[in-house]
Amino acid sequence: MSSPVKILVVFGTRPEAIKLFPVVAALKGDPRFVPVVCVSAQHRQMLDQVLEIAGIVPDHDLDLMKPDQSLDSLTAALLTQLGRVMDLEQPDRVIVQGDTATAMAGALAAYYRKIPVDHVEAGLRSGNIYHPWPEEVNRKIIGTIASLHFAPTDVSAAALTAEQVDPARVHITGNTVIDALHWVTKRITDEPDLALGLADLEARFSGKRIIGVTTHRRENFGGGMEAIAEAIRQIAARPDVAVIFPVHLNPNVRNVMNAALAGLDNVAMIEPLDYPHFARLLGLAEIMLTDSGGVQEEAPALGKPVLVMRETTERPEGVAAGTARLVGTETSVIVTELFNLLDDKAAYESMARAHNPFGDGRSASRIVELIGNEIGRKA
Ligand code: UD1
Ligand code: UDP
Repeated sequence: MSSPVKILVVFGTRPEAIKLFPVVAALKGDPRFVPVVCVSAQHRQMLDQVLEIAGIVPDHDLDLMKPDQSLDSLTAALLTQLGRVMDLEQPDRVIVQGDTATAMAGALAAYYRKIPVDHVEAGLRSGNIYHPWPEEVNRKIIGTIASLHFAPTDVSAAALTAEQVDPARVHITGNTVIDALHWVTKRITDEPDLALGLADLEARFSGKRIIGVTTHRRENFGGGMEAIAEAIRQIAARPDVAVIFPVHLNPNVRNVMNAALAGLDNVAMIEPLDYPHFARLLGLAEIMLTDSGGVQEEAPALGKPVLVMRETTERPEGVAAGTARLVGTETSVIVTELFNLLDDKAAYESMARAHNPFGDGRSASRIVELIGNEIGRKA
């Protein structure tokens, strides 16, 4: 091809930024492409934390986040604003990642302009449109639109072909989160100062068994969040345990957690950590307790057992490998499962094996190569 191909990379939340910065770097290093980065800023502070450590300065920043935003108002703003950027930039292709509102609206705006969409982290399915909500439907919409589907594993690739996606358009690439995790692990090894911000907590909780917690799923708002908070309170009542809990900025999470957990000796509710510090927390924690998608992928890669506070998961690979377990959102089940892991060494050891079904850390270069093949084919 004579002139380089312009690729608009669209993202808006913390996990999309983590999973796409390796792809942006790979595109930048390839003369066949001109990447243009558009952030919706569906997240603001939590997105900026990733942009800063990854050294990405977006070409377009739509600054769309509103406090406690509704899915309707967010999606409407995303569709019109992302469409405007596409009209301005006239990209040859658009890349979206995962299943957020930004990814779905980005794919739809591209489709309305007949621009091919490349989907990173394609084919994840829980089989339940309300768990996770609204992500299961977002990713099905993207799956209907996408030109190339970059599935992390054979499980996600099979989910796509079962939905009649042309197998020739589906590629198993691994998940770029493992690229990001390798990158950040090297950064904090080379520059330990990048992750020193947890030192005070490490000193305060010295000798205790650290449980790392994150939670944010919309389907858990209300009763689910309250049950999770109560589980954390009961877990932290054990004198040998300490909980480190970077609390998501969503007010539906923070208000519940502040009301239930403020002032407990063994619970550190802290601001969202930047990626180097979160990687440090993954290293410190004996167990991760989470409803996050990304943490389900990262923790097994580091040999950390994950208890997943959800009814279903679109990431069955960790469960199949025995490094993740679904515990739902009932207080008593969460507490029983966690105490079992703390007290039964054999049960712990059987889960705490480094296991990496989600990739080898070279997913981004594979994805860029596959897009290169595609444009070569079209040339
Ligand atoms: C979003 C995604 C979800 C993803 C999650 C990752 C959708 C519908 N949801 O959920 O798929 O797993 O991000 O974290 O796309 N807020 C801030 N500052 C921030 C980020 C959020 O104040 O940096 C607060 C705001 O009040 C905002 C609210 O959190 O309105 C919700 O943000 P939103 O992106 O709509 O949903 P999440 O629950 O974060
Ligand atoms: N993460 C982070 N700081 C935190 C909590 C999480 O950097 O305080 C990272 C984590 O390593 C993972 C990603 O954010 O890569 C997960 O984001 P989140 O749980 O918000 O979204 P999900 O993966 O569920 O879509």
